[in-house]
Amino acid sequence: DAGYDLLVVANRLPVDVALGDDGEPTWTRSPGGLVTALAPVMAGADGAWIGWGGSPDLDLEPFEVDGTQLVPVTLSQTDVERYYEGFANDTLWPLYHDVIAPPAFHRQWWDAYQRVNKRFAEAAAKAASKGATVWVHDYQLQLVPQMLRVLRPDLRIGYFHHIPFPPLEIFAQLPWRRQVVEGLLGADLVGFQRAGDAANFVRIVRRLTDLTTRGQVVTLMKHGRVDRHVRAAAFPISIDSHAFDDLARSHDVQMRAKQIRHELGDPEVLLLGVDRLDYTKGIRHRIKAYGELLEDGRLSPSTTTLVQVASPSRENVGAYQQLRDEVELLVGRINGDFGQVGHAPVQYLHQSFPMEEMAALYLAADVMLVTALRDGMNLVAKEYVAARSDDRGALVLSEFTGAADELQGAVLVNPHDIDGMKDAITYAVHMDQREARKRMRRLRRRVLGHDVTAWSKEFLAVLTAIPARTDHV
Ligand code: G6P
Repeated sequence: DAGYDLLVVANRLPVDVALGDDGEPTWTRSPGGLVTALAPVMAGADGAWIGWGGSPDLDLEPFEVDGTQLVPVTLSQTDVERYYEGFANDTLWPLYHDVIAPPAFHRQWWDAYQRVNKRFAEAAAKAASKGATVWVHDYQLQLVPQMLRVLRPDLRIGYFHHIPFPPLEIFAQLPWRRQVVEGLLGADLVGFQRAGDAANFVRIVRRLTDLTTRGQVVTLMKHGRVDRHVRAAAFPISIDSHAFDDLARSHDVQMRAKQIRHELGDPEVLLLGVDRLDYTKGIRHRIKAYGELLEDGRLSPSTTTLVQVASPSRENVGAYQQLRDEVELLVGRINGDFGQVGHAPVQYLHQSFPMEEMAALYLAADVMLVTALRDGMNLVAKEYVAARSDDRGALVLSEFTGAADELQGAVLVNPHDIDGMKDAITYAVHMDQREARKRMRRLRRRVLGHDVTAWSKEFLAVLTAIPARTDHV
């Protein structure tokens, strides 16, 4: 039987591919939560990963990385502009994140989204063995489940949605809302981060289609008879917790954490923010709260530092360019108003760093600030916890993240409430050690007890428990 038994289909491959000077492909690990989440899962399975290499017009043969077969899908420059930057990241991304930025609706982008989803579905149909399990990921590929089912009715198809699934009132704005719902209903199992996302989906199915639902199960009919069922459920994603825990216990990372504090001038209080530079992350709200705390004298600018890592993301999309300008203006103002020669109260880094350096930063920070306005899960919050093998540090966490459902022990905030956020930051900074330790232990029990391997096993166990279809031949 030709083909792979387990396929992951995601917009991005787990690596970024570029052509070297010799015309041979070279690759580096690509950014994003999804990749972090699935790399360890695939490393252990006999499967293949279908995705885009991250650069336009790269036409590559399948290749192997760390024992996983990678099957590249080619995107032209126009596909990148209309499908990726356009429909995925300038229509769906803002729409699904509570319309924090206005979504743009362009019919040409929708055409490109359909065209590229078709290409992914065809690649999966070609690569899957008979009766294989195919796991489709995220908002870039919502039409793939149905397209794939038409091509290959023998497959078990799962879909996991990594970002929020919005309420009907917001989703209904999408001119192609019905097609998107039908695309997702091609799956046997549709997974979400939170119970609320799954509930939104089921309600949308009830309102936009004439299908019947019972609890979280949708029944599809064919010729007046029950054809099949689609299950919706929450599967909160996690991280490779033990990898962060191990790193944080290593001598090199511990030394580096000390060195970071020293290089920052041994601040009494080190605050940390780590995000993709994205308007959903509440970076401006957080920096504003910090600036006001300095201004009010509740934090001392000479003994406090905020390190803000803002890794470059989607830089061709206008809303991201605008956000960068706004953040950099704000950082410049605070450093101008409260800095001294040799000390800037905000250390702003528009860069991404390797995992070792991230672990050292987490270990060095007294308080981690995760203040997203809306976030499907937020893996940074979990990474911080996993890296605190010393049971120290405190996490300030937005209640609008999926992580807030799970991470009891964090200090929860509404990032729109600047005064509330200032109080929460102050509380976390001055928290007594016993309380901090108690909270961190609770957080660590959750994050270390439920890692990404557990997550993927749970999803795949539910998916493969769905009886295989034998009536399609
Ligand atoms: C989020 C999405 C992922 C995406 C990642 C990075 O985590 O859920 O699907 O890969 O952001 O964004 P990018 O556009 O660079 O792939």
